[in-house]
Amino acid sequence: PKIHAVDRNGTETVIEGESGMSLMLNLRNVGGLDIAAICGGMCSCATCHVYVDPAWMEKLEEQSADEFELVEFSEHYKENSRLSCQIEMTDGLDGIRVTLAPED
Ligand code: FES
Repeated sequence: PKIHAVDRNGTETVIEGESGMSLMLNLRNVGGLDIAAICGGMCSCATCHVYVDPAWMEKLEEQSADEFELVEFSEHYKENSRLSCQIEMTDGLDGIRVTLAPED
């Protein structure tokens, strides 16, 4: 599935993503984007914070309470904030568009 990813400079790249892997790993390992992910995808660092294009928000699995509590704490929190390590890429998300949030 393709991922349209906008980095912190506003540059968009299209990544040929892999299903079954988190969005964070797709953005960082496949797409080479600058995501620290210092907790390794364990939902405890919030450095994988992205904004999901509103049209795609409802296609995602509902976020967990743990994820919400962590991302809501970010000073850059918006309604379409998600932690990309908590989103699993699937073929159904082909074409998803996300923007990296500024670093806190
Ligand atoms: Fe740490 Fe997502 S990688 S919360």
